[in-house]
Amino acid sequence: MYNIGVIGTGYVGLVQGVIMAEFGMNVICMDVVSEKIEKLKKGILPIYEPGLKELLDKNVTSGRLHFLTDIQETVEKSDVIFIAVGTPPQDDGSADLQYVQAVAKSIGKYMNGYKIIVDKSTVPVGTGKIVRDIVQEELDRRGGNFEFDIVSNPEFLREGKAVRDCLTPDRVVIGAESEKAVDIMKKVYDVLYINQTPFLITNLETAEMIKYASNAFLAVKISFINEMALLADKVGANIQEIARGMGMDGRISPKFLHAGPGYGGSCFPKDTKAIADIAHQYDEQLLVIEAAIKANEKQKRKMSERIISTVSQEVPLEHATFAIWGLSFKPETDDMRDAPSIDIIRALVSVGAKIRAYCPEGLKEAKWRLKDIEDSMTYCRNEYEAAEGADAIILLTEWHQFRGAYLNKVKDVMKNDYFFDLRNVFSKNIEVKKIFKYSGVGC
Ligand code: NAI
Repeated sequence: MYNIGVIGTGYVGLVQGVIMAEFGMNVICMDVVSEKIEKLKKGILPIYEPGLKELLDKNVTSGRLHFLTDIQETVEKSDVIFIAVGTPPQDDGSADLQYVQAVAKSIGKYMNGYKIIVDKSTVPVGTGKIVRDIVQEELDRRGGNFEFDIVSNPEFLREGKAVRDCLTPDRVVIGAESEKAVDIMKKVYDVLYINQTPFLITNLETAEMIKYASNAFLAVKISFINEMALLADKVGANIQEIARGMGMDGRISPKFLHAGPGYGGSCFPKDTKAIADIAHQYDEQLLVIEAAIKANEKQKRKMSERIISTVSQEVPLEHATFAIWGLSFKPETDDMRDAPSIDIIRALVSVGAKIRAYCPEGLKEAKWRLKDIEDSMTYCRNEYEAAEGADAIILLTEWHQFRGAYLNKVKDVMKNDYFFDLRNVFSKNIEVKKIFKYSGVGC
C-alpha cells in the first residue's frame, strides 16, 4: 500500500487524512500552523465536524495517523501527496493560488523519488499544469531527476456531513495525465470504496472544471428558488409547495430547492466568483452564474430590509433587539465563512439595533468575525437566553434543536413577538403563527 501525505490540515485535508488512516493507510497530515498540529496530536479538533473526533482518536492511537509541521519529512515519506490548502478569493474574485504554489515548490525541493501529486484544493482550470511546472522548475534547480505525476482529484464533501461524504461519495473524479497515475489513484481509492463508487477519469482540465461547474450549478439552483420565494411572497403562493411540485420532476430533483437567506460558506461564494473570473480571462462571460451571484447578494439584502421595515413600524430601531438563532452558514458546522448571518447582523446593527446571538457551534468564530461591532452584540448560552428582551427572533441556521423549542417559553421572555424564520423551519407549525407575528421565506 502507499504512504499518504496530506498537505493542509483544514476541513478537507483533515477529514481526508483521517478517513484514509481509518482504512489502514499510513497517513501524515501536515500543516504550517503548529498550534493546530499540536492540538491534533492531543486529539483536539480545530473544527466541529460530527463523527470526526472518534475517528481521529482511534487512528492516532493506532499509529497510522501522524501530524507534522515538517513539509520535508512529509514529502520524503509519502508516495501520494494530496494538496489540500486553502484557495481563498482575492478582491477581484479570482482564486488566490499562493498556498498551492508554495506547496508545489516545497514538493519539488524535497522530492526523493516518484511521487503522485494530487490537487484536492478547488483550483482554476490550468492549475495542475502550473503545479507541474513549479515542481519541475524546482527539481531542475537542484538537479533532481525524479519522475512525478500530477492528478486533479476535486473534493465534494459537505461540511457537517464531511465524514459521511468522504466515506460514501457520489463519485470520485480523477483527472490525470498518465495510466500509471490513474492506476495508483484507483488503488488508493479502492481501499476506501468497496461500495461501487463511480470513478470518472478525465484529463486535468476537465476534473478541475467539474468542481467549479458543480458548485456553480448548486449556487444557481439556490438563487433560483430564492427568487421564486420573493415572487411567491408577493403573489400569495407557497414556495415549499412550489419546490415540492418542481422537485417531483426527475429532471429537476427536490435537492437544493430550499428557499432561505442566501447561500454562504467557504465554497459557493468563492467558487462562483472564481469561475466567473476564469471565464473573463478567456474572454467569456458566464451570465447565468453572474446573475446567481447578484441574486444571492440581493437575497441577503432583502431579508434584512424586510426585517427592518416590519419591526420599525412598531419599534424604533435604535431601541430594537434581535435574537439570532444560528450563526454558522449551515447546521452541524462551526464554519462562519461568508455566512449570511454576518451580512444580516451587520445590516441590523447599522440601523442602531442590538443583537442577542446564539449558535450551538458558531459562537467562537462569530466573536472574532464580528469583533468590530462587539458593543452591539451579546452572545448567549442558548436560544431562550437569546430571546430574553428581544423584539424579534431571526432563525438563520436550521440547527435541529430549534425545531423542538418551547415556543411559549420563548415568547414569555421576549419584549415583542416577531418571528422571522429565514429557513422555513416552522412554516407548517400552526402554533408558531398563533404565538408570533410569523414570517418565513416565500411562505
Ligand atoms: P482550510 O482553510 O480549512 O484549510 C486549509 C489549511 O491549509 C489550513 O489549515 C492552512 O493552515 C493550511 N496551509 C496553508 N498553507 C499551507 C502550506 N504551505 N503548507 C501546509 N499547510 C498549509 O480550507 P478547507 O476548507 O479545507 O479548503 C481547502 C480546499 O478545499 C479549498 O480549495 C476549498 O475550496 C476546497 N474545498 C473545501 C470544502 C469545504 O467544505 N471546506 C469542500 C470541498 C473543497
